[in-house]
Amino acid sequence: MVGSDSEPSTISLTESTPDAQLPVVAPDTLKGKFSSMIANAMENNPYFAAGGGLMVLGTGLAVARSGIIKASNLLYRQMIVDLEIQSKDKSYAWFLQWMSKHPQRISKHLSVRTNYVQHDNGSVTTKFALVPGPGNHWIRYKGAFIRITRERSAKMIDLTNGSPFEIVTLTTLYRDRYLFNEILNEAKDIALKSTEGKTVIYTSFGPEWRKFGQPKAKRMLPSVILDQGIKEEILEDVHEFMRNGKWYSDRGIPYRRGYLLYGPPGSGKTSFIQALAGELDYNICILNLSEGNLTDDRLNHLMNNMPERSILLLEDIDAAFNQRLQSGETGFKSSVTFSGLLNALDGVTSSEETITFMTTNHPEKLDPAIMRPGRIDYKVFVGNATSYQVEKMFMKFYPGEETLCKLFVEAMNKLNITVSTAQLQGLFVMNKDKPQSALDMIETLRHSNHVL
Ligand SMILES: Nc1ncnc2c1ncn2[C@@H]1O[C@H](COP(=O)(O)OP(=O)(O)OP(=O)(O)O)[C@@H](O)[C@H]1O
Ligand SMILES: [Mg+2]
Repeated sequence: MVGSDSEPSTISLTESTPDAQLPVVAPDTLKGKFSSMIANAMENNPYFAAGGGLMVLGTGLAVARSGIIKASNLLYRQMIVDLEIQSKDKSYAWFLQWMSKHPQRISKHLSVRTNYVQHDNGSVTTKFALVPGPGNHWIRYKGAFIRITRERSAKMIDLTNGSPFEIVTLTTLYRDRYLFNEILNEAKDIALKSTEGKTVIYTSFGPEWRKFGQPKAKRMLPSVILDQGIKEEILEDVHEFMRNGKWYSDRGIPYRRGYLLYGPPGSGKTSFIQALAGELDYNICILNLSEGNLTDDRLNHLMNNMPERSILLLEDIDAAFNQRLQSGETGFKSSVTFSGLLNALDGVTSSEETITFMTTNHPEKLDPAIMRPGRIDYKVFVGNATSYQVEKMFMKFYPGEETLCKLFVEAMNKLNITVSTAQLQGLFVMNKDKPQSALDMIETLRHSNHVL
């Protein structure tokens, strides 16, 4: 104890007496004295010691508490990352689908999403996918915890499809932020797998493209039988075009190419374009210009907002040239005008390549202005069945029946009528696995409808 060893002139609290003269204390030793006094008191008085300890502890806790709040706020800001996916983004549906497949979901709010799966034979199976409903969900992904918040805005409505506007927010630690990318890529892969080997067909719905039914199994190119060499030439031209992106950009030419397939109904134009899309692994966006509700504005908008990797198919483009029809005249009238069509074809601004296929049964109605490069660059006649096609069609339906095939082709030549490939198909479908009976019925082609 400091006090006990000190000189007589110094005092300690315990030694002080009322009659003692107040000693003169040097200022520099005053501090030492005071602390020794407190130390003394603490040592000798357990209550005081405990009180002081509690006070220190309380203060410490209070400081720590606000510190923790501050730190966690800081942590939240510094170490936590959010990813927001809005319902209008393409990855939104992919992500929900991914969530429904994620095995470690710990979730109590689910919503149901019903999918129809159409099989090749036309039958439909219904599948229910349980997707995370609105609210908070926690998942564990590759060792990291991720919080998923799905919010639905009651006020905002997605104008393009009328559904409520939604946001999904993913939250995780900063160090795990790379997982967001992995999740999105995984989600995309799952989504694309479900359309693998399929062709998605889009049609217009108001101002936007909508999937038309479920993705269809790809139509195989060999199943469409055009006259000799036509398919190969078109395919080669498309491949050539797709290889030459740099050539176009180097010259500042819009990277697009237009194809016109013209000829009688039922000759396989539409079927071929769908099969070509499948072959190229593209989807297909179909607009029918003979539909009355398509206007110039909508045509232009749709053509400039195509889903990626799609071929545009404009059916019956002659409809745009029917403007001068007077009331009372027969024929249909399209609300797409000739100049509207040309503007739309010229105005497509896409960073990707644009492949447009056009079809018509009436090439004579087209204005020559549409034949300019960039509008229609490649024109091909797809006609009624030639002997070559008759033979190929027969062999496709009745493999191994060479002898009967020869007889059938001869009989066709003798008949000396023009039939469409669709009509031939009709006869063969009617005589499934019965080539002889197809041959016997060949006369019926004379009376069958040109378009089947
Ligand atoms: N060349 C062909 N090869 C195989 N199938 C064909 C062929 N032509 C027509 N078909 C069959 O006939 C039906 C109608 O064909 P598609 O719709 O392709 O004809 P289209 O030329 O587009 O007719 P339209 O000018 O009336 O639009 C389809 O079921 C298709 O499978
Ligand atoms: Mg067609």
